[in-house]
Amino acid sequence: MRRDHHIACATRADLKALVEVHLEAFPDFFLSKIGKRFLTVYYQSVATYPQGCVLVLYSANSRLVGFISGFKYPDGFYRHFKKRKMAIAVALAIGLLKRPYLLPRVVFHARCGGKKSVAMSEDENFVELSALAVDPGGQSAGVGQALHAAFEDWAVASGAHGIYLTTDVERNELARNFYAKRGYREIRKIVTPIRRSMSVFAKVFRESGFSYINESSR
Ligand SMILES: CC(C)(COP(=O)(O)OP(=O)(O)OC[C@H]1O[C@@H](n2cnc3c(N)ncnc32)[C@H](O)[C@@H]1OP(=O)(O)O)[C@@H](O)C(=O)NCCC(=O)NCCS
Repeated sequence: MRRDHHIACATRADLKALVEVHLEAFPDFFLSKIGKRFLTVYYQSVATYPQGCVLVLYSANSRLVGFISGFKYPDGFYRHFKKRKMAIAVALAIGLLKRPYLLPRVVFHARCGGKKSVAMSEDENFVELSALAVDPGGQSAGVGQALHAAFEDWAVASGAHGIYLTTDVERNELARNFYAKRGYREIRKIVTPIRRSMSVFAKVFRESGFSYINESSR
């Protein structure tokens, strides 16, 4: 990490800039299309979940350049998130007013309970890395690796057995190489209902008796 960068746990005051970075780094993604309000509720929920972690990196000129978020016990996180029913409903309503064509996907996610347990349901002691994003203007300057290293330190200190994440298969070489170089292995492929091919990557700190490698990824 550069000396003029500093990493801190996100507070409420960071959320506006964090959401802007999310929108810049993930244009055209579903959550970005749902809108700022939903993203704010989401990241606020991660930051307030007792087993959650949102880290932000600031540059020398006090600009939020990137962030990383995730949580241990994912099912517990999604229960925590869903407690904010009213805030979620308002955020979704605002997003759908702007983009009504997103309704089928919103309904699908609501029916699934909004959880990704399909990814790593075998071991609740894994941390789900839910987002890593660097502002396009600040990319390739070591921000992503510094944030990931700090997040991994948090995960190890929390006693997690490892970290997992889902990421796109197509047109995503940079991110896939980023995680592969940091010790993640693809453990599974998923095809979402909108036919988006995703990989589940995991980095195991401590084996816990489960086989993380399924037949398709051997
Ligand atoms: C993926 C991402 C987080 C990487 O962050 P970053 O700050 O740009 O990356 P860093 O400068 O820390 O570099 C990390 C590694 O990527 C390599 N890298 C960075 N930019 C690169 C580029 N444009 N082309 C090829 N490699 C590149 C670096 O050389 C470095 O390699 P190393 O691991 O061998 O040292 C960032 O590009 C991003 O936010 N992308 C959009 C959102 C995304 O895809 N998030 C991850 C999926 S959830």
